Amino acid sequence: MSYRDVYAAWQADPEAFWMEQAKAVDWIKPPSHALDDARAPFYDWYADGILNTCYNALDRHVEAGRGDQAAIIYDSPITGAKATLSYAELTEKTARLAGALAARGVGKGDRVIIYMPMVPEALMAMLACARLGAVHSVVFGGFAAHELAVRINDATPKAIVAASCGIEPGRVIAYKPLVDAAIAQSSHKPDFTLILQRDQQRAELRDGYDFDWHEAQTGVAPAPCTPVGGMDPLYILYTSGTTGQPKGVLRPNGGHAVSLLWTMTNIYNVTPGEVFWAASDVGWVVGHSYICYAPLLLGATTVVFEGKPVGTPDAGTFWRVIAEHGVVSFFTAPTAFRAIKREDPEGRLVDGYDLSRLRALFLAGERADPDTIIWTQKQLGVPVIDHWWQTETGFSIVANPLGIEELPVKLGSPTVAMPGYDVQILDEGGNPVAPGTLGAIAIKLPLPPGTLPSLWNADERFKKAYLTTFPGYYETGDAGMIDDDGYLYIMARTDDVINVAGHRLSTGAMEEVLAGHKDVAECAVVGVEDALKGQLPLAFLCLNKGCAKPEAEIVAECVALVRNQIGPVAAFKLGCVVDRLPKTRSGKILRATMAKIADGADWKMPATIDDPAILDEIRIALQNLGYAKQVAPN
Ligand code: COA
Ligand code: AMP
Repeated sequence: MSYRDVYAAWQADPEAFWMEQAKAVDWIKPPSHALDDARAPFYDWYADGILNTCYNALDRHVEAGRGDQAAIIYDSPITGAKATLSYAELTEKTARLAGALAARGVGKGDRVIIYMPMVPEALMAMLACARLGAVHSVVFGGFAAHELAVRINDATPKAIVAASCGIEPGRVIAYKPLVDAAIAQSSHKPDFTLILQRDQQRAELRDGYDFDWHEAQTGVAPAPCTPVGGMDPLYILYTSGTTGQPKGVLRPNGGHAVSLLWTMTNIYNVTPGEVFWAASDVGWVVGHSYICYAPLLLGATTVVFEGKPVGTPDAGTFWRVIAEHGVVSFFTAPTAFRAIKREDPEGRLVDGYDLSRLRALFLAGERADPDTIIWTQKQLGVPVIDHWWQTETGFSIVANPLGIEELPVKLGSPTVAMPGYDVQILDEGGNPVAPGTLGAIAIKLPLPPGTLPSLWNADERFKKAYLTTFPGYYETGDAGMIDDDGYLYIMARTDDVINVAGHRLSTGAMEEVLAGHKDVAECAVVGVEDALKGQLPLAFLCLNKGCAKPEAEIVAECVALVRNQIGPVAAFKLGCVVDRLPKTRSGKILRATMAKIADGADWKMPATIDDPAILDEIRIALQNLGYAKQVAPN
């Protein structure tokens, strides 16, 4: 069947399509139907099905004879460690960990926050929660204690599972003090913590509250798989919205297993027993879907890589891992290849590695610039596939489905809509526009199985954030166009979200932190272009009258504030002091215009601007920082 046939089959009968795909999952009680739209605009998938995601990811493969096959290959150039865990070992360790959590009261529906670096135990913790029907919420290690506290208050977890430390190039980051500080800051107090002690820095454990990962498991019975309903949440993953309060994206068990299995075969073109590698982090959606769940649901081998594309030890690390472990399908963010290309523009470090087993590279998380795609294709000699998705969807909305057919690549486009997604470009009034016309990218409801049914404890926010602007559609927050062949092009975000090294960040959240500086009267943060990370946050700061402190000192304090409150991952280092911010006559800050001036892009004087002269001050401040190369509006 061609892609067109598959997409048409879904369009003709979505219910039959998704019931067919559901057969790839082992259900305790198979669902009688796929979609239930009785609560529209909230949609349920496989609501009366009963399953366990951990069983599908682990036990069933052991029962089917894959016990000795590698489930996880751990490769940590940053510590020098390497290990392989078979499906039998991973199942046994996960069941025992689940037993330890259950013995301390964690059960179905309870939340557990996981704050861990890229070690196999992070996956074990996720799977142990899934085994118990508990709901995990993994928090990326690059977030500071305050961000962790916000998530503790929102998810109200029974427990926190953490490692004693994470390791970044040149420094060890003690996680446990961050966990302690977060618990001290939050009004909700988890019942206990479970800590994986790492040799690089061990944590101090308080008797009766902090339990050692291994000791907690001694004498505990392995936990069986708890049956859960298709719509019971598997996890909550917080992602940036427009404010400092992150959105708790919910992932239901049933649709998640079905849709991920569909993608492994039809998009990534992987078969059970093959090695799949997603170089991301378990703290992001790519890590949830493609480091942990999808490869294991399929019975493939997943690579857990603890390192960076460059500097651990060099820009050849990715090539080594692909060659050494026989990776057939590889997934990362374009920024990783920009980093490699910068260090090794000629691709000299590729020489000597046997990459012959690699069949394709997939890129997502940010715009894939044609230069990076072409360079990478040249080094690897395999198709480089851009695909577009979001934390909210959990799998790609638009992709090139290599498992069905390899569609021609058009540089700059992540290709075409996947079954389940009716993607449309809408004008401001919510009307579909002609091919080739820019507009808001929206998806006709219902979204397919596995996508977010709502936000954790926030149905109204879910409706307001995604379903209100264009009734009958899900608003993606991205703008772009579709060409005559149905290829989608993603151009920009329509909200205050920026994308820094493939990490999704909220400029609104940074503004909230900066407004907390005692000398800052008003501020605006915009995303400016960066050759390595795609975008970087840049702040304009207006100070209180009479503030005598040197401007450089205030900028440095602001940088430290964001690092301490949000975390190093914000990569916030650029700030300038200005007298006033450009606004419309109704008082709206003209962030998009400032960003365009910074990038030296074409920009138009907004008709509604209150005082055009302010833009001159902005331009001068930006030029002092090395931005705003183009002088005037066109
Ligand atoms: N724990 C603690 N700190 C972390 C962290 C973690 N898990 N991950 C990143 N940080 C820190 C970094 O050490 C860095 O700190 P610094 O300001 O002291 O240098 C800061 O957060 C910013 O990190 P990052 O944006 O990753 O920048 P970098 O300069 O360390 O590395 C790249 C740049 C391009 C090599 C890196 O971003 C990368 O590998 N990206 C791959 C893309 C990716 O995985 N995207 C995920 C979505 S698919
Ligand atoms: P996240 O939820 O962190 O996965 O970020 C999702 C956002 O990243 C999307 O809404 C886009 O803005 C951006 N994004 C993800 N993949 C792509 C892509 N292939 N091309 C362009 N932008 C992308």
